[in-house]
Amino acid sequence: MDGNGRWAKKRGAMRIFGHHHGIKAVRETVEACGELQIPYLTLYTFSTENWNRPKIEVEGIMQLLIGTIAKEVPDLHKNNVRLKAIGDLDSLPENARNALEKGFELTKNNTGLTLSLALSYSGKWDIIQAVRKLADKVKKSEISPEDINEAIFARYLATEETPDVDLMIRTGGDHRISNYLLWQSAYSELLFLDDVLWPEFRKAHFFKAIALYQQRERRFGKTGDQIKNETK
Ligand code: IPE
Ligand code: MG
Repeated sequence: MDGNGRWAKKRGAMRIFGHHHGIKAVRETVEACGELQIPYLTLYTFSTENWNRPKIEVEGIMQLLIGTIAKEVPDLHKNNVRLKAIGDLDSLPENARNALEKGFELTKNNTGLTLSLALSYSGKWDIIQAVRKLADKVKKSEISPEDINEAIFARYLATEETPDVDLMIRTGGDHRISNYLLWQSAYSELLFLDDVLWPEFRKAHFFKAIALYQQRERRFGKTGDQIKNETK
């Protein structure tokens, strides 16, 4: 969800104004997922690296997070959305963690969209925390190194049972992954929207993105002919 700061700057406003206006885009995206019955949506909300922004912006984003969670959770619940978060949640302010915990608890049995907020998250952080947990298991002889495979490793990542990313959309015009779901995006389709800043993102953009995704041929290393024969 990139481009909030630039969107605000274009209007001569403070960066936090852009973050506030990004909420509408989040709401539209969640609704669009519901309409298309998409089972998983993971939003890159705040990265490990974002902690290095000016204190006033970090505090503004945390306040916005707390307020938005409290305000939106009842609607998410009504819409059968299961709220989750991935990242180093211990590093978040206590009131943010509390607001999130309440949301997780209320929505944990919902069966519609699983909405994961990546908070204080980075792909490298995720891989390291998985390695630590696995190394501990090895130390305690609960698992032997030769039994570690991709499927087992993936279970130790913060995404746990969430499947790998099919489509990764980035607004704001930058063409990079920025330490997002590194392991989980090994075979993702990438879509970079050059002309849309996050606060401008609407359902129509999402539907267009899905239509473009549907035109891609996902080969996973195979040949195009193999894929065509498999789908016959
Ligand atoms: C994305 O918008 C929101 C966060 C990273 C929290 P930015 O704040 O990165 O906006 P730009 O890239 O400066 O326009
Ligand atoms: Mg940015």
